[in-house]
Parts: sequence; C-alpha cells; structure tokens
Amino acid sequence: MGYFTDDLTVKAYKFAYSQNYDHSYPNENIIRLSSALKIKKNSKCLDYGYGFGENLIHFAKKDLDMYGIDIDNDLKRKVFKKISDRNINLKHTPKLHTLKSSDKKLPYKNNFFDFILCNQTLYLLADEVKIQKLLKDIYRITKKNGTLLFTMMSEKNWCCTDGEYLGNNVYSFDDKSKLNKIKGNFLHKYYIVNSIPHIKYLFKDFNVEEVGFFDNSYYGVNGHHYVVVCKKK
Ligand SMILES: C[S@@+](CC[C@H](N)C(=O)[O-])C[C@H]1O[C@@H](n2cnc3c(N)ncnc32)[C@H](O)[C@@H]1O
Repeated sequence: MGYFTDDLTVKAYKFAYSQNYDHSYPNENIIRLSSALKIKKNSKCLDYGYGFGENLIHFAKKDLDMYGIDIDNDLKRKVFKKISDRNINLKHTPKLHTLKSSDKKLPYKNNFFDFILCNQTLYLLADEVKIQKLLKDIYRITKKNGTLLFTMMSEKNWCCTDGEYLGNNVYSFDDKSKLNKIKGNFLHKYYIVNSIPHIKYLFKDFNVEEVGFFDNSYYGVNGHHYVVVCKKK
C-alpha cells in the first residue's frame, strides 16, 4: 500500500510507459500559465509527476533549475534521451528522482523550491487522505511565498463521464471505457473536485490565489481540468 501513491495507478502508468506511451510537446496551458506566473531564471522548480518530461524540458530551456519526481524509473533515461536527441544545451541539468511506494517523505529539504508544478497528477492518488499527506509534504519543501500550480480533474472530464463513480469523490476508469486506448491494465482511479469551495477546502493550508480551468471537447473527449495557483503562507 503506497504512502504518496495509489498502487493501481502506479501499475497502470508503468504498463502504459512500457507500451511507449509518450507526448512530444509540452502542455500548452502549462506554457501559458507559466508565462503568467513569471517564474525567475535559476529558480528551483519541481515538476511533480513529470511523466513524458516535455513540461520539465520546456522550463529547463528557460534556465529554471528543474527537479522532477515520478513513479517509473525508466522515465529518467527517456527524458535525458529526448534532451540529447534534440541537442538541447541546458544551463541546469535536470535532477530526476523515482518515488517508491514506501517513501513517506519527498527527497528534498524544507523550504527548498520556488515553484512546484503538479499537472494532471495529484488526483491520481485517488484518496483524499493520501492527497492531504502529499500536500503537507509539498508544503514543507516549498519556500515561503513560493508558487504552486496544480491541475485537478472535474466530473465534466471524459475519464469521469466514461468512468464509474465509486463514492467519496473517486471515479474509476478501466477497459470498459470505449475511450481507453491503452487496453489491458491501464486501469486507474481519480479524485475529483467539483466546486471552488471544494478546491479551497483541499488546498486550505495554502493561500489559493487563482482558480480557473482549461477545457476542450471533441470526438467524445472532454479535457476539463481546474487550474489552482497557490502560494505557501
Ligand atoms: C497524466 S500523466 C501527466 C504527466 C505530466 N505531468 C504532464 O503534464 O504531461 C500523470 C503522471 O503522474 C505520474 N504519477 C502517478 N501517480 C503518481 C504519484 N503518486 N506520485 C508521482 N507521480 C505519479 C505518472 O507516472 C504519470 O507520469
């Protein structure tokens, strides 16, 4: 039973990554939001759940000092291969770490990061108690007044409309979904937020500066996510 992880989701992503699940570009909403946030060069930044590494590479190219953490050990190799294949010269080499399900503390010092990005990942813990434990440790490693950007899925998202409600704000998504393209073991759960009070309650230890959303809807796929920008108090 993972502490900061959901075992089912860890298995699902390891499976997906073993099937060459990848993206080739950073998330355009994250690019736009990061411009608005004006994170300074050389800032210490963490991409929590860095996955394909595209957002992390985007920030590293802007001279941010990037750290990344995810659950699949092979992702490090893939990210450094992307950097080398594209001949990207970086001022700060990204520091990438693999989270183990037994880890009860993130591997960073207190008050370390100026900026933490957690795009499309926090809700994969699929359990409010685990999310709160992780947020507590994320709070610990953020500098006072540091900025945090989270995206959170809502019920409008296709993973919910095409998934099954399990109670306690958790949905499951599995092979029964006609939209699940990675068949076989890409089975995971999501913790959903559905209102601004719900978001403020979840992020109550932080100063919540902005709650917005991004969305797209075509061919049966709806990508609605809330965007939550916070500061450490
Ligand atoms: C939907 S992908 C998002 C990847 C990336 N953040 C992006 O924006 O493209 C979710 C990522 O979260 C990772 N992940 C899942 N559970 C996690 C956990 N408990 N802690 C850290 N990373 C996790 C997965 O391995 C995957 O890389």
